[in-house]
Amino acid sequence: MLRDSARLLGASAAAASFPVAATAQPNRPPDPRAFPAGFLWGSATASYQVEGAIHEDGRGPSIWDTFSHTPGKTFQGDTGDVADDFFHRYPEDIKLMQQLGLKAFRFSIAWSRIFPTGAGAPNPKGLDFYNRLVDALLAANIQPFCTLFHWDLPQALEDKGGWQNRATSEAFADYAAYIARHLSDRIQHFMTLNEMSSFVEIGYKDGRHAPGLKLGPAEVAQVAHHAVLAHGLGVQAIRANAKPGTQIGLADSARITCPVIEDDQNIGAARLAMREENARYLTAVLEGSYTDRYLRRLGPAAPRFTPADMKAIGSPLDFVGINCYAPEFVRADASEQGYAVVPRPKSYPHMASDWLAIGPEGLYWGPKLVAELWSPKAIFITENGTSSDDIPTADGLVLDTDRVMFLRNYLTQLQRVVGEGAPVRGYFLWSLLDNYEWADGYAKRFGIVYVDFKTQKRTPKLSAQFYKATIARNIVA
Ligand code: FCB
Repeated sequence: MLRDSARLLGASAAAASFPVAATAQPNRPPDPRAFPAGFLWGSATASYQVEGAIHEDGRGPSIWDTFSHTPGKTFQGDTGDVADDFFHRYPEDIKLMQQLGLKAFRFSIAWSRIFPTGAGAPNPKGLDFYNRLVDALLAANIQPFCTLFHWDLPQALEDKGGWQNRATSEAFADYAAYIARHLSDRIQHFMTLNEMSSFVEIGYKDGRHAPGLKLGPAEVAQVAHHAVLAHGLGVQAIRANAKPGTQIGLADSARITCPVIEDDQNIGAARLAMREENARYLTAVLEGSYTDRYLRRLGPAAPRFTPADMKAIGSPLDFVGINCYAPEFVRADASEQGYAVVPRPKSYPHMASDWLAIGPEGLYWGPKLVAELWSPKAIFITENGTSSDDIPTADGLVLDTDRVMFLRNYLTQLQRVVGEGAPVRGYFLWSLLDNYEWADGYAKRFGIVYVDFKTQKRTPKLSAQFYKATIARNIVA
């Protein structure tokens, strides 16, 4: 095996040259491990993590420019000033996507390229970049999936209170309407916000991400409310301005609650936990209300909201996007709420990022519980992937067997739930390229394509070959 892969990976052998076994053979029953025909295999990135070109074509500053340039906030002071230089190199990167056989590509728009101060007059040159990108993706037969907000809030809006200010939710809706008007002729799938819980809790409570605030519980609850409100107003704005048939969803980092043991009692507990542990975000969005228990738990720190807010927040969606990394384990217990989230033992294994506890079961229980609780029309796995301490060999190979192990196990669980009929329509691997991993800077590599940040040279890793083979055969390789 090793001999073969060494040969296949030899010097010039990029992912493109990896031979792939033929799929169906005549007179054979369909392979029970196969994903459905048309399953959308993709990969995901985000504007600040890959684009660079922060001063180009009238882009305004975002909170991540400010934060990353503040001493002591990011690993070794790393910034996204250049990142993967995707702003200039996207044609080359689309070729890589084609070689991998990607059917879809999830990217985000930098709000401050479109509205340099967050609101007011749009900057047509900023839109032009996304016009070029979308046209190039379509020409390569790759479906564009567009996220409107992946954390890079225009600094001008932060200066007016950012997500603490309800006006930010309204500005988001105006921005969403503008994008829908200009891009929905070519983009069929839009996601409003990426990972509300991350930018709210890490950015406004823990202060480890931009804008680096450490607010108290009532303020954080209000910030979270403005996030779900922005989502809801954004959905309405896209519906009102987009081409009919446009599919609207979000990309949520739901807390995924897996039963410790797959028996009725613990599965029941995991179901209860899924709804309650996501009360502030996904449950509010999919039910159009906060759970009683959530409001009781917060007491005087509960957010202020109106019935009209909740109606907007619960706007019907065409799909739910789930980002899945480190799920929780839950067991049934005798408490009033009927479940307990089990703390991870210190010895619980994780990947190169210490937060990335390994839990392939998340890709089974996430879609399963979301489907059972809320019956969405469609589910996409909008992110899944891992960091790895990738070090190229002397002959330039990146043999990331740990990433392949991770992906193989998670995808096997995804296949299990898809095989049972869950409405999962596609999967976006995070990420195509090594990129700027927020406060971890360039220290944590999540790509299936290695990037030498000094030269911007791209080298597909072993995991790229694994993914290519999986896509080509529609079976976990
Ligand atoms: C997710 C983020 C994404 C990336 C991955 C590793 O939480 O949405 O931007 O940083 O984690």
